[in-house]
This record gives sequence, structure tokens and C-alpha cells, in this order.
Amino acid sequence: MKKIFIEPRQKIYDFSIFEPLKIFFGEKINEKKLSSFFKEKFKFRNSLTLSHNRLGIYLAVRALINANKNEIILSPYTIIDVVNMVICAGGKPVFVDVDFPSIAISTNEVNKKINNNTAGIIVTHYQSYCKNLPEIKIIAQKYNVKIIEDCAIAFGTKINNKFVGSDSDISVFSFNITKYISTLTGGLLVCNDDNLFLKINSYISEFKINPFLYLLTKYIKALQIKIFTSKIVFNLFSRWVIKFTLDSNLKIFKNLVRTDGEKKLINKLTRKHRIFVTNYQRKEIYIKVSKYLEKNDQKIRLENYQFYQNNLSSISKIIIHKLMINDMNGAVSFPIFYSKRDRLYKFLILNGCDVTKYFYRDCSALEIFKKFNESCINSSRACDEVILLPVYPSYSRKSIEKNIETIKIFFKNNNSNL
Ligand SMILES: Cc1ncc(COP(=O)(O)O)c(C=O)c1O
Repeated sequence: MKKIFIEPRQKIYDFSIFEPLKIFFGEKINEKKLSSFFKEKFKFRNSLTLSHNRLGIYLAVRALINANKNEIILSPYTIIDVVNMVICAGGKPVFVDVDFPSIAISTNEVNKKINNNTAGIIVTHYQSYCKNLPEIKIIAQKYNVKIIEDCAIAFGTKINNKFVGSDSDISVFSFNITKYISTLTGGLLVCNDDNLFLKINSYISEFKINPFLYLLTKYIKALQIKIFTSKIVFNLFSRWVIKFTLDSNLKIFKNLVRTDGEKKLINKLTRKHRIFVTNYQRKEIYIKVSKYLEKNDQKIRLENYQFYQNNLSSISKIIIHKLMINDMNGAVSFPIFYSKRDRLYKFLILNGCDVTKYFYRDCSALEIFKKFNESCINSSRACDEVILLPVYPSYSRKSIEKNIETIKIFFKNNNSNL
């Protein structure tokens, strides 16, 4: 089963080194046309293109809060900047634990924390969409609280035959380079409430920073990822660096595929957050979303997910969130949870399986958010125990089989002392 060439944990879905040429010479598309496109294809009532998903969180929270109602309920298992955006917008983050292993925000915990000061609930979709969203909507309605769906990693998935995000007060999506609609940077806000949408639009004139320098840095990062994950470079170089630096902290490689930055609390938007979106970026989103609609990627990811699920379910030591194949989840990776995660992770890397932990943190336990601390046991567990196995469409069935076999060997070898 030794494979000379192994496949990396992650690939950029859609990126060409000629991307900058499009910036200068490509056709452009305006907001109105892009909105009509999303309305027609996805039934998004009102939409607004943004430079990032996280900016959508900021705009949504800012539009929802007032002096009496400023609490925003959210899952702590997310990127640090989501929490920062709530704070920057003037909201107070209220962490609510997730269920395990679905890692969907817990209905019971929402019920406990919601009160008359709550202005919004951020519901984050993960590999699987949150099945309890309808229950949370009922609780929210009782308190006149709005829902913000964070669909950063769930664009194009469907709940009951409706595109995710089309049915809530506000939804936000990410099209950054590591997502399956991979533009250099980009996001989308969708809103079903016309008045709220007008309010959100009224903030847009504050976003004036020209994006070109920022796009250039994103382009360089994308190029790095592309090169370090290409077959030859990955096998001759990157995988060995990953292997030899397993126990060290070589930032350059650790950060290569991460989209979350430093552990830093911010309470005012930075320059990076204030950039506007060009018509070129809109065109890129338009082209890539149109392509996505013609591709079979989601189906392949789900089949790969199911294959892991069928073959790993017999290992009682690992915990799996089982999905139904006919539910149109995003399934960007296949997460497994194991109490001695770091040992298994090391074994997989040393045995030629490039897998990853996760860049989401348990934000409720971070020192920077000490002021909002809550004990969220399941979120902390998810953070400490997760390993993500690749399912991306070009990842071969052979590599999936190898991951499964190596995991089985680990548990066979260690059975006596686990
Ligand atoms: C759950 C979640 N929310 C928000 C974001 C931020 O997306 P963006 O980089 O477009 O701001 C991400 C990015 O990975 C995410 O995973």
C-alpha cells in the first residue's frame, strides 16, 4: 500500500495563474446584474457582494442591534474574526455550545441564553447544514430575534430543496480562495427583509479602500498554495517539511491553508475589512458560481464522505457525524473525532496520509474573549479531537482507501493500550 505520490489535504478548486490579467483586461459585471443572477438561480431575494463573508456578519449585526438589544448568540466553534465582527459592530457575543458530533449550535442552549436583550442568532453551517435550524427559528420568532445564517462553507447546498441561506432574515457566504467558489477574496450577503437590506446598504459608502493591493497579496498567497500543493512540489518538498516539522511551529507551512489570522481581539474595523468590491470581482464570482452550477463537485464530495462513513463506522474509538447521502450537505471534508487526536494525526502524517486538524477554534475558551467566557464543553471537545479527511473532487478513491486503511492499522496496533 505504499504510495510514492500522495495527495495534499487541500487543493484550490478554481484558480489560474493568469488571474491578474483578468483584473486588468477581463469583462466586468455590476451589482444589479449579479443580484438578478442570484435571484434567478438561487432565489436570493436581495443580495450584496462583499469583499469577505465576515464583513457580512459585521453589517448584519450592526443593522440588528440597538441600545436595548445588543446580544448576539453564536457558536464559539468558528473563526476568531466572526466574533471580532460582532464586537466591531457593537454587539455582545454570547457563546452557546454546539451539539456533538454534528457541531450544530444546540437548540437547548439557545433556549437557555435567549432573552429580551438578544438581537440576533448566528447559525453556522458546517460540513452538514444545521438540521435544527427550523427549531431555532421558532424560538427566535418568540423573542422577535433575527437569524443570521453563516453559510461560509455551505454555498450551493440545499435544505428541503431550497438553497441554503435563501430562507432566513440574513445569510452570509464566503468565496475566499479556500472555498469551493474560490475567488481571491469575496463574500455575499443575502437578505429577505427589504427594510433591513436598505439599512445594510446605507453603510456601504463607508467601504472605500481600493482592493488592488489586497488582491495582490491574496494572489501571491494563492500562488504559494497552488505551488506547494502541486503534485511534484508537494511530494518532493511540502510533505517532507510537514513531516519533519510535525512537532515544531514553522509558521509558513502551518499558515499556508489557514484562513483565520492571529489570536487578536479587534473592536474597530481594520483597513483590510474596509475594502470595496470591484466589478471585476463580481465578474469572477459570476463566472465561478455559473461553473459550479454545471459541475458535479458536491455529489462527488458527498460520495467520498459516504465512503469514509461506511468504512470507518466500525471503529468504535472514533466518532463520526453520519450523513444521509440524499441530503444535499456541503461535506467539504470528512471530520472524525478521537480523544487522542494528536497521536492519530501524527501516525497518519508519518505514514503518508496528508490530513489536517482545523483552523476553527473554541472561541469561548480564548484569552482574548475572556470577557465573554462561557464553558462550552462540546465546542472545546470538537476543537481538541477533530481530524479532517479530504473529500475534494479530484482526491482519488485510492487515497481515501489508504487513509481508511492507515486509520485501521493505527487502531489495530494500539488496541491494547488505547
Ligand atoms: C464559519 C466561517 N465563517 C466566516 C468565515 C470567513 O469567511 P471570509 O474569509 O470570506 O471572511 C469563514 C472562513 O473560513 C468560516 O469558515
